[in-house]
Amino acid sequence: MEYYKIQLVVIVSLMIVLPNTQGWGEDGHAIICRIAQSRLSDSAANAVKNLLPEYAQNDLGNVCSWADRVRFYLHWSAPLHFADTPDNLCNYQYDRDCKDQDGVKGRCVVGAIKNYTDQLLDYGKNTQNNLTQALMFLSHFMGDVHQPLHVGFTSDRGANSINVHWYTRKQNLHHVWDVNIIETAEERFYDSNIDEFTNAIQENITKTWSDQVLGWETCDSKETACPDIYASEGVQAACQWAYKGAPEGSVLEDDYFLSRLPVVSLRLAQGGVRLAATLNRIFG
Ligand SMILES: *[C@@H]1O[C@H](CO)[C@@H](O)[C@H](O)[C@H]1NC(C)=O
Ligand SMILES: *[C@@H]1O[C@H](CO)[C@@H](O)[C@H](O)[C@H]1NC(C)=O
Ligand SMILES: *[C@@H]1O[C@H](CO)[C@@H](O)[C@H](O)[C@H]1NC(C)=O
Repeated sequence: MEYYKIQLVVIVSLMIVLPNTQGWGEDGHAIICRIAQSRLSDSAANAVKNLLPEYAQNDLGNVCSWADRVRFYLHWSAPLHFADTPDNLCNYQYDRDCKDQDGVKGRCVVGAIKNYTDQLLDYGKNTQNNLTQALMFLSHFMGDVHQPLHVGFTSDRGANSINVHWYTRKQNLHHVWDVNIIETAEERFYDSNIDEFTNAIQENITKTWSDQVLGWETCDSKETACPDIYASEGVQAACQWAYKGAPEGSVLEDDYFLSRLPVVSLRLAQGGVRLAATLNRIFG
């Protein structure tokens, strides 16, 4: 009995100590990647199939959290998951905001999306880059840039340092957006089943949002990837929906959950549609 108590204490302490700063949780990333893979052109689907590691079993959704698992030993990749902005400005500018803690330009989620898009454009040519990793990074970061609090404020680290209650459970606000809103939605509306939630979003892509999808897919310029737009939308959603009504110490319940779930669903849909559009532009 005593032994198990100690084990439990160790496990719980580890859960508290380990930093919780990854993008959407496993489910959010998998949803985005599965939506994307279902929208690929034949040539893009082939390229993805060739690049995926064997263990993915040709399911992009299986490797979309790979970048979160490696960030703890590939330390250089940690700043590539987000792009925080000055507090309360609610807008994003590449030159001002896309840098790491040392001020190195381009080292943020937007720069990373451009980086790995460029690398993948060498598919079929001679290249020094590992394009399997490039695909897994791009797929992950395209998800991250659509999580509003990955373009949050610098001083609270994208709301990682804002403590709230999610119903009765202590949580930080960033984690609420990574994981809890999705998890609670799956439990309450989708038989705790990620596929049912994914299908519901996909159905809305063809119905509710059908007249917006072309706009989501299109890049303004002749660019292959246009993540600056997604980051700008992100910080606006962070201000309008994520931070709003959730100051330090607040208790978030149905009011917050039910009004924010549509925002989460929309961002997952946009992430999936845009990842597919980008991969289709890359692989022709
Ligand atoms: C670009 O990709 C390379 C190879 O993974 C990596 O070393 C570099 O840090 C990346 N830079 C950015 C801004 O993503
Ligand atoms: C490319 O990266 C993948 C995933 O990390 C790894 O399994 C594979 O061995 C790498 N390929 C090469 C040629 O280094
Ligand atoms: C789909 O759209 C309907 C109608 O707008 C909405 O009630 C529903 O919550 C949406 N579901 C998802 C998963 O987006």
